[in-house]
Amino acid sequence: MSVSDPPAIKRRPVYLNLVRIRLPLPGIVSILHRISGAALFLFAIPVVLFAMQASVESEDGFASLKSMLANPLCKLILIGLLWAYLHHFFAGIRYLLIDLHVGDDLAPARQSSVAVLGASLILTLIIAVRLW
Ligand code: HEM
Repeated sequence: MSVSDPPAIKRRPVYLNLVRIRLPLPGIVSILHRISGAALFLFAIPVVLFAMQASVESEDGFASLKSMLANPLCKLILIGLLWAYLHHFFAGIRYLLIDLHVGDDLAPARQSSVAVLGASLILTLIIAVRLW
């Protein structure tokens, strides 16, 4: 090949089709950790601050917050945010342990991602049943 030849085009695989990407379980836990972190920052913190403010502002504020929280749609949103918190919490502990090289081999990493998904879903379900 001389210096004037165009560079050979390499056919590299492109995995940009989000519908076709098959993430392994630890990958799913990871993307959900990012999504839940963003949801906590963007929605859960404002909701908690609003609820705290309304609950201590006045008796009327407390009563209107109470009736608002009795609305099924509000309950569903709260349950969604609760799941986001629990998933982020358990996945966060998993990452902190992995940072310490605890369970960072393939098999334990798979098992801990199942544990994170299971624990957050089961706890959300238990609290949701009590909340409803
Ligand atoms: C309201 C509370 C919280 C908010 C708003 C929040 C938000 C976030 C966000 C936005 C990220 C970056 C995610 C990414 O870009 O991949 C993050 C990462 C992280 N969070 Fe939280 N978080 C909260 C609570 C917690 C708690 C309670 C834990 C404890 C287990 C935790 C553990 C972590 C860890 C370990 C990471 C880094 C994960 C990594 O190595 O990629 N977070 N958090």
